[in-house]
Amino acid sequence: MPLVNTKEMFKKAYEGGYAIGAFNVNNMEIVQAITEAAKLENSPVILQVSAGARKYAKHIYLVKLVEAALADTDIPIALHLDHGDSFELCKACIDGGFTSVMIDGSHLPFEENIALTKKVVDYAHAHNVTVEGELGRLAGIEDAINVSEEDAMFTNPDEVEEFVKRTGVDSLAIAIGTSHGAFKFKPGQKPQLRFDILEEISRRLPNFPIVLHGASSVMQEYVKIVNENGGKMPDAIGIPEEMLRKAASMAVCKINIDSDLRLAMTASIRKHFNEHPEHFDPRQYLGVARNNIREVVRHKIRNVLGSSNKI
Ligand code: G3H
Ligand code: 13P
Ligand code: ZN
Repeated sequence: MPLVNTKEMFKKAYEGGYAIGAFNVNNMEIVQAITEAAKLENSPVILQVSAGARKYAKHIYLVKLVEAALADTDIPIALHLDHGDSFELCKACIDGGFTSVMIDGSHLPFEENIALTKKVVDYAHAHNVTVEGELGRLAGIEDAINVSEEDAMFTNPDEVEEFVKRTGVDSLAIAIGTSHGAFKFKPGQKPQLRFDILEEISRRLPNFPIVLHGASSVMQEYVKIVNENGGKMPDAIGIPEEMLRKAASMAVCKINIDSDLRLAMTASIRKHFNEHPEHFDPRQYLGVARNNIREVVRHKIRNVLGSSNKI
């Protein structure tokens, strides 16, 4: 089967009360780990490429790796641009084989976000590519913001209908308390997601797929392994998995996870070198990393997203 866009995936996910995992890819081992996990779980999956990943690995390598994974697994895979920041970048990805793009105008004033997003939607839809827009800003503890500032960054439900109607986006990323990276909450801080805002948004946008970024749980077992093997991850916690499960049972159809895979990869390689200082064949430590990333993705699909056996 060819690469698919997200339309059918999201329709089924919305109706079925589960979410599709969107995992970031940067190299062959990561692509293989994610798609092998999805194949084992019989689950659709989104492989997403950031501007940084595209720069690191080159567009053509990532597209060819994803095409190889598709031929190898024969599961529904969407190839998605994560956090596109310009029309030109979105166009390059659409022209270069991506089936879904995000245009992230969340930092722009409302009218400018609409204008940029609509320009991308018009081009993308003419090429059968789906588009994710964003309203609201994600913050992290490293941003040192106070509560009233934080409130102002959550997605404003009053804006969502107009944004979706005027842009024609296929899905909308919202800010309800998640944040990017491995330092989301300090230990002892109580993680909270604004489910009231999610509910209000889905009331205003019936049958419309919502996206959550910054959804890694900062898996403590891997933080521990990193730190026991010479690493220095500060004490921090992520989004509790039961909160993500709840969001997936609501209108959230796409959940973005990157940091948990980075942690699993780094932990595996650090531990491997500590245990086998004599090894210097990359297949030894990258192979272990690939196995552990695969197990993390299987766990997310089965226990958090709920997308096992949904093909
Ligand atoms: O949200 C961003 C993703 O984790 C990708 O990160 O821009 O460092 O590739 P990156
Ligand atoms: P995490 O950093 O929480 O994994 O979020 C990834 C993400 O949102 C990619 O767009
Ligand atoms: Zn993101």
